[in-house]
Amino acid sequence: MDATSIKKQVGFAAAEEYVKSGMKIGLGTGTTAIWCARRVGELLKQGKISNILAVPTSTQTELECQQLGIPLRTLNDPDIGGELDLAIDGADEVDSTLCLTKGGGGALLIEKIVAYAAKRFIVVIDSSKLVPHLGITFPIPIEVLRQGRVPVTRACEALGAKPEVRMAVKKMGPVITDNGNILLDLTFSTPFDPKEMEKALSLIPGVLGNGIFARVRPIVMVGHPDGKIETLT
Ligand code: A5P
Repeated sequence: MDATSIKKQVGFAAAEEYVKSGMKIGLGTGTTAIWCARRVGELLKQGKISNILAVPTSTQTELECQQLGIPLRTLNDPDIGGELDLAIDGADEVDSTLCLTKGGGGALLIEKIVAYAAKRFIVVIDSSKLVPHLGITFPIPIEVLRQGRVPVTRACEALGAKPEVRMAVKKMGPVITDNGNILLDLTFSTPFDPKEMEKALSLIPGVLGNGIFARVRPIVMVGHPDGKIETLT
C-alpha cells in the first residue's frame, strides 16, 4: 500500500472502532488524523453514529469538519466542560515506550490541550513513525511567544538543543501558528528522557507548549504497508 492509503486505512479504522454515539471527541491535525475526521463525517451522514460534539485541534481540522457537517465546539463550551471522552490524532514519532513527538503541522499547542483533556487518547500513524527514541527523524517543536524568542533560544541551548525558527512556505518570514505565535524546532544530538524534557521545556518562560507527549497513555494504531493494523498499548 502507498503512504496515503495506509494513513486513510488507519484513520478510518480509529473512527470506526472508537467513536460512538453521544461522545465528545477531539479531532487531530495532519495527513493521517484528517482521515479519521472524514470517516466520522461519513458515519454521521449515514446515521451510523449520532450526537457527536467535536473539538478541532487546528484551523485545518476546523475547516474540514465544517465541510463535513460535524458539530464543533471548543473545550470551554458548557456542553464540553473541558473534558473529552476521546481524542484521536497523528504523531511525528512514537518511541518504544509510546512517548510521542507532535507538531510537524504546527498545531502542537491545541493538540496537547485536547489530548490531555481526553479520557482516552488514540494515536494514528504509519509504521515509518516508530523510532527507538524521540528526536531521530523529526526535531522537537516548541510554540513560543514572539517577544521571548531569544531568551527561549538560549534556555533551549542550555538543555542541549539546537533551536531553529520554523520558516513559512508561500509567506515570507516565520510560520505564525493558529494562536499567533512562532515555532522553534529543536534538534538534539543525543537521546533524552522524554518525560524530563517535556517538563524542562514547559518551565521555560515564553514557551507556550512543546511537542513531546510523554504524560499521556495513548493507544497507538499503526498502519503497515502490507495492510495490517497493529495496536500498541
Ligand atoms: C500536527 O501539528 C501534528 O502534530 C500532526 O499530528 C503530526 O505532525 C502528524 O502528521 P501526519 O499524520 O501528517 O504525519
